[in-house]
Amino acid sequence: MTATPERFSCGALRADAIGRTAELFGWINRRRDHGGLIFIDLRDREGVTQIVFNPEHPSFPMAEKLRSEDVVRVVGAVRARPEGTENAKLATGAVEVGIEQLEVLNRSEVPPFQVNAEDDVDESLRLEYRYLDLRRPRMQRNIRLRHRIVKAFRDYFDERDFVEIETPMFIKSTPEGARDYLVPSRMNPGTFYALPQSPQLLKQICMISGFGRYMQIARCMRDEDLRADRQPEFTQLDVELSFVTQEEVMQMMEGAVAHAWRNVLGIDLSAFPRLTHAEALRRFGSDKPDMRFGLELVDASARFVTSEFVVFRGALDAGGAVLALRYPGGASLSRRDFDALTESAKLFGAKGMVWIALGADGVKSSAQRFLDDATVEALRADTGAERGDAVLLFADARESVSSIAGKMRLEIGERCGLRDPAKFSFCWVTEFPYLEMDEESGKPVPAHHPFSAPMPGQWDLIDSDPLAMRAQHYDMVLNGFELGSGSIRIHDVELQKRIFTMLGMSEEEIEDRFGFFVRALRYGAPPHGGMALGIDRIVMLACGEENLRQVIAFPKNQVGRDVMMDAPSPVPERLLRDLYLRSVAPSAESAR
Ligand code: AMO
Repeated sequence: MTATPERFSCGALRADAIGRTAELFGWINRRRDHGGLIFIDLRDREGVTQIVFNPEHPSFPMAEKLRSEDVVRVVGAVRARPEGTENAKLATGAVEVGIEQLEVLNRSEVPPFQVNAEDDVDESLRLEYRYLDLRRPRMQRNIRLRHRIVKAFRDYFDERDFVEIETPMFIKSTPEGARDYLVPSRMNPGTFYALPQSPQLLKQICMISGFGRYMQIARCMRDEDLRADRQPEFTQLDVELSFVTQEEVMQMMEGAVAHAWRNVLGIDLSAFPRLTHAEALRRFGSDKPDMRFGLELVDASARFVTSEFVVFRGALDAGGAVLALRYPGGASLSRRDFDALTESAKLFGAKGMVWIALGADGVKSSAQRFLDDATVEALRADTGAERGDAVLLFADARESVSSIAGKMRLEIGERCGLRDPAKFSFCWVTEFPYLEMDEESGKPVPAHHPFSAPMPGQWDLIDSDPLAMRAQHYDMVLNGFELGSGSIRIHDVELQKRIFTMLGMSEEEIEDRFGFFVRALRYGAPPHGGMALGIDRIVMLACGEENLRQVIAFPKNQVGRDVMMDAPSPVPERLLRDLYLRSVAPSAESAR
């Protein structure tokens, strides 16, 4: 007669439970037959416990048939592992459970990959069998960390009197620069809802509605080219406040992130450094600088104004710049290594690259003939390079050379092991340009969205030099990723219309696309501002992952497909007819 069993998770048993009778539920992580005994590692979301079957026990023949991922219930006595067999790597490694009852609750087919090993499995297989992939400890950890981060954000804003408001999924298009996903309306033939690219206009309307402090863990959908840090549907921590300054919004959002880092990761963050957009480009060649390391870009143009090196002189005469970058330890590279590095620079758009190796046995360079000792010494001092380092030089038009050198800075940082995923370097980038040139249309478009207010005193530029206008817009950046952006909004209807007009919209177009919003602005819209942080990106970086798919339970693959459900998929003709639609796609099969 055994004692009444107590229920434990598979990660719970420690030495203090020895002598008790435990009931455990879980999956067979591994079965080992050893010295006449059978050992089962039983796994659930909390961990793994070792169950031991000896050959005399009636359940032994059943245990012999257990396979990976079968689901069982076991009852048994918790006892110390025999001396020398303890497993210090396992939280439950001091104990084992001697079997008393085994109940097989369900069988598993042979899984298409090993759930119990952290080895590399082809990602498309992982996504197809996502439920098995999610059983793996790493994914369990990521998804639970995600939950805790989202909860920390909710708690933080709740404590500060924010109201979570669910904005609708079926809306009219809100422009965030991507294509909309459309949903046909059966009840209103020939018309479509757009799925929200963000709740931007609705949260502004919440301010007009007098809610004052809004937040939402908001799902957003954007039909755009996918990358490791982009998914077609993703989640934002979306926030809006009335009667605030840019400074107050930034403090509030920085506080939210600091709260999550402290409460979830146990890390105290110091105040985020701030850079203007212009400064970020100048120092780091990027509007989302990776601040985990220095290696700042140095404008070396002045060193080459009288140079005979035609490539540099050409760039400078055309109004461009020469930028220098230190490569710590780079002097040990061979010529072939430098050639390979030059090829990387070319992939980033460089026309070429000059290197100077400050070796122990003297200076070598790909442009030796044009570099006198004084110039080399000046470049060394400018970049802070030391003996053993190399200095890289790039010349081109200002904007392109800054972007190229910025990307090479990341490359060097990577090679030198300076991009440590365990280090979190946040920063703010402010004073973004209001407009940027759209490469396709050649017309100015809002760098973010057309609801941001220009910087104080800049309205006059709207007619004289719109491209010089800066916005009261701010981005939060972590380790070279844009985590989020926000702005102080325009709350004056006439000023909002001026922006629409500047963007080339006619009265009819304004009415058609934004009539509802323009009307709302007429009824006492308070001054307001806000921000949205990308939850997926935050969690990805907090988990030390390099891909959003690692922190989303059911993500889409690189071409936007859910390979587990096989979506999107063709639908019967009849359903299309109900929606007044006809497909003109070549065929669903060939469209894949
Ligand atoms: P924005 O378009 O900059 O601003 O988006 C805010 C943040 O959302 C995340 N994000 C994405 N994450 C994953 N996949 C995507 N496709 C994706 N697109 C964006 C990023 C980004 O920084 N309404 C404004 C915010 C505001 O002004 O308040 C907005 O949506 O982390």
